[in-house]
Formats: sequence, C-alpha cells, structure tokens
Amino acid sequence: DKDEAAKSWEAEWSLLPHGEASQIDGITLEKQTCSLWEKIWAFQARPDDLLIASYPKAGTTWTQEIVDLIQNDGDVEKSRRSPIQQRQPFLECTRATYNGVDQADAMPSPRTLKTHLPVQLVPPSFWEKNCKVIYVARNAKDNMVSYYHFQRMNKRLPDPGSWDEYFEVFLAGKVIWGSWFEHVKNWWRKKDSHPILYIFYEDMLKDPKREIRKVIEFLGKNLKEEVLDKIVYHTSFDVMKNNPMTNYTHDKHLNYKLSPFMRKGIMGDWKNQFTEAQNKKFNEDYEKHMADTSLTFCMEP
Ligand code: A3P
Repeated sequence: DKDEAAKSWEAEWSLLPHGEASQIDGITLEKQTCSLWEKIWAFQARPDDLLIASYPKAGTTWTQEIVDLIQNDGDVEKSRRSPIQQRQPFLECTRATYNGVDQADAMPSPRTLKTHLPVQLVPPSFWEKNCKVIYVARNAKDNMVSYYHFQRMNKRLPDPGSWDEYFEVFLAGKVIWGSWFEHVKNWWRKKDSHPILYIFYEDMLKDPKREIRKVIEFLGKNLKEEVLDKIVYHTSFDVMKNNPMTNYTHDKHLNYKLSPFMRKGIMGDWKNQFTEAQNKKFNEDYEKHMADTSLTFCMEP
C-alpha cells in the first residue's frame, strides 16, 4: 500500500551516499563534473544557443520555465511536453548514464541550455559564438538558506551538515559551484562585453510581468498582452509547484519529505534561519566582498 511504498522509498533514499566534491581551478564542483571536465570545456556552442546561467537556488527553474513558455508563444501544453531538465540540458551535469554535453549535442537548434558554472569556467565556445545569456541572481541570504535545504534533501550533493556548519562553508565559498560573491560579481562584470540579460529573483517576485517583458524583448519576441498574462500565471509559484514538469518530483535522489524542491518561493526567509550573530558576521563579510562592485541586492521584503 501507499504507506509501505513511501517507507521503503525513504529507506532506499537514506541508504544512498551523499555526492562528493572536487575542484577545477580552485572552484568546488561535483566530483563527477570534474571527472568529465575536458569534455565540458570542449563543448561546442552554436550561435543560436541561449544559455540560462545562475548560482544554484537563485530561481533557475523559474527562469527556465518562463523562457520555454516565451519560446512556445505561451502554449502551456507544449511546455508540458517533458520535465524541464529534458527540455533544457544542464551543461555540466554528469551522471553514470547521462551527461548534459551529450544531451545538448544530440539536440536540434535552437537550444536552450542551463549552467551554474562561474563565468570563468563557461566553455569558451559560448563567447566565441556570441551566444545570448540570461543570468538570474538572488540575494545571498535567501540564496544560502534555499541551498542549505536543497543539500539536505539532495543526495547528489555533499552532506551540508548542521546549519551552523553550512553557514561557514557557504561564506568561505567552499560549496559546490563556488563562492556566491564571486559568481554574481564576475557574471555582472561580463555583461559589459557580452549580450547578457542580468535579472534578479526579487524583481521577479515584485513585478513578474515587467521582468518577463524584459526577457521577451531580449529574446526578440513579440507577444500579445494576453499571452504575457498567461505566462505570468503559469510561472507563478503555486502553479509551478503543482506542475510535475517543473517540480522535480521524479528524482529518487531528492527527498521531498525533508524539503520540497519548490520550498517557499519568498524573499526574507533568511530571518527564520539566521541567528543574530550570524547576521552580523554575514553583513561584515558581505561589505568586504561587495566593496568592489556596483551590484546591489534587496534582502528585505
Ligand atoms: P526556496 O527554496 O527559497 O523556496 P533553482 O531553480 O535555482 O534551484 O531555485 C529554487 C528556488 O526558487 C526555490 O527557493 C524555489 O522555491 C524558488 N522558485 C522556483 N519557482 C518559483 C516561482 N515560480 N516563484 C517563486 N519562487 C520560485
């Protein structure tokens, strides 16, 4: 029966080992990604590729679904053709029986690809072919909290340990995909020399219509107002949470009982997680890391 099935599934999950980390050029990545690094670095982008880039848990899936709906002129049925990770290959994702590079190579153009790589580790062909990029960023505090809960429920990533332990590892930039600070700053700098639309999770929450309009314009599309409204609705938190094609419910490495993939989708949740001392330490570190950039974030609702 259902209870028994859930129990045996949970027992299976608890037996899965956590993923391991390794490094490329000083950036912490999944060990499996590192083992295929030469292949990833040699990836051949095509001029009409679109790359969606982000630090993990910044609103990647949300942006991906918005883009897919725009590309399909708001046709919801088309966007439900398969899970988001099949529609848009995850470039550096490396598994025993699957990797993002092979999936992308086999895909007809135009392709939309996803990456969490810091800008300096993006395969050079993307810059040579002048591919368009959409980068989505989220304030560090909420991003950190979201990432912590994701690592708790995701056996593909290393064990995050306790929140207090994770807090230090995150600030030190030793989590998978590296330092949040370097990630958002270096991508921000890159947009001066490359076609990158840089958007913010907080702006998307505040005014999704305005932000989706920016994406439509960047992609060179022209959509009717009613189509835009439809996209706003179908990419709202509740709709995406209940959509099996966007909520990652088909992955046995993820334990939704511990924390759902679509967890809260709000701004300011860090206040439920940070201690006062942690907030103080965080703010001091933040000042130091962000002193050399014009990039700013909103952290309060
Ligand atoms: P929380 O854990 O704070 O809820 P990513 O796709 O980069 O892994 O990011 C996941 C985060 O984005 C999660 O944050 C998730 O709930 C949030 N998210 C996903 N879709 C969203 C939507 N349509 N509206 C608001 N937040 C969304």
